This record gives sequence, C-alpha cells and structure tokens, in this order.
Amino acid sequence: MEESGQLIRQFIDLGYKKIITTPHVMNDFYRNEPNDILEKLELLRQHLKSENINIPIEAAAEYYLDESLIERINKGEKLLTFGSNYLLFETNFLTEPFQLKEFIFSVTTLGYKPVLAHPERYQYLVNTFEKVEDLKNRGVLFQINIPSIIGAYSKPIQKLTIQLIEKGWVDFLGSDCHNQIHMNILKEAFRNKYLKRALELPLLNRSL
Ligand SMILES: [Fe+2]
Repeated sequence: MEESGQLIRQFIDLGYKKIITTPHVMNDFYRNEPNDILEKLELLRQHLKSENINIPIEAAAEYYLDESLIERINKGEKLLTFGSNYLLFETNFLTEPFQLKEFIFSVTTLGYKPVLAHPERYQYLVNTFEKVEDLKNRGVLFQINIPSIIGAYSKPIQKLTIQLIEKGWVDFLGSDCHNQIHMNILKEAFRNKYLKRALELPLLNRSL
C-alpha cells in the first residue's frame, strides 16, 4: 500500500489524471482472480483517501493467453475489462500461440475489444511486420509500453516501437510500472521525443 501510494503520487506529478491498473492474470505465476483484484482495489482506494492522494483509480487485468484463458472464456466467465470493454491480453514472448487467431475471433464475437499488450516485445513479431499488420486487420488494438520507447528492454524492441509510433499504430500507452525502478525509467521516457510524438497520436487513453 505504501509503495503504491508513493508511485501514484509520482504518476500525478507526471500529469496523469486517472489510473487503471492491470495486474497479471497468469496461471501458475499470478493467480489473480477478478474478485481478488477488485478487493485489493477497494483497499488501495481507502489507503489513497487516508493519504489524501486524489486521483480516480480503476482496475482491469492483463490476461496471459494460454489454455486456462481459453477455459475461462469457454466457461462463460466474465473477464475484467476497462473503458468500453477493452480486454488487455498478452502472449508468450517467443512463439506465437497456436490459439491466437481463434482467441481474437471468439473474444471479438463476445463483444470484447482485444488489446494486445506490448506488441513490440514479442520475438515472433519483431522481424515480421506483416504479422503485426495482420493482427491490426483483425481488429486488435495495440498498447505499447512507454519504457520500450527508450530501449529499456532491447534495441530491436525500441526499433519496432518507433516504427509503430511513426505508422500511428499505437492505440494505448501503458506504463509497465511495477515498482520504483520502472517509475524512474518512465520519468526518463517522458523526456524522449518519440514519447512526445506518441502523445500526439489519437490515443484511446484519453477516452478512458
Ligand atoms: Fe505483459
């Protein structure tokens, strides 16, 4: 709670007007269930209030695409979304999941708007721009991580990020802020010219 409060104060200093947290939902690694996330959100809101930190805060999730997510969908479980039914998901970093296209089709059919977290970070997309374009054509929205812009993960990731910004293929910006180390990177990124260029795009963050 303390650390969250300190981080949120710094988001406010950076000019943020609203926060939507998206904790990982990943079988075996992050066993977060929607109810746990929403309970913790309530506790955090109380903490912020007691510390006089005033900013609207909501919670959704970042769903890892694997069999367990497909199961959740097949069982008819309601997934945590933000804004107008945006569903944030991520995949394996190295290989394209075999269920990817089917997943996009089924969640779209269910009325969700799939948002791929950090497209720039997937090995299977880094050198194949056609695949990125194909996902876009399937209606997938892209959320890039702000630290990617300054090369915080790697040079190839930074390169793809800049290409996405230049093409205007960025729908959302995400902070990837897990702790103070990430916050320091974020502050550095906010001085970068490509971030400024990204902020000139018609980002959907502003609609949230
Ligand atoms: Fe992620």
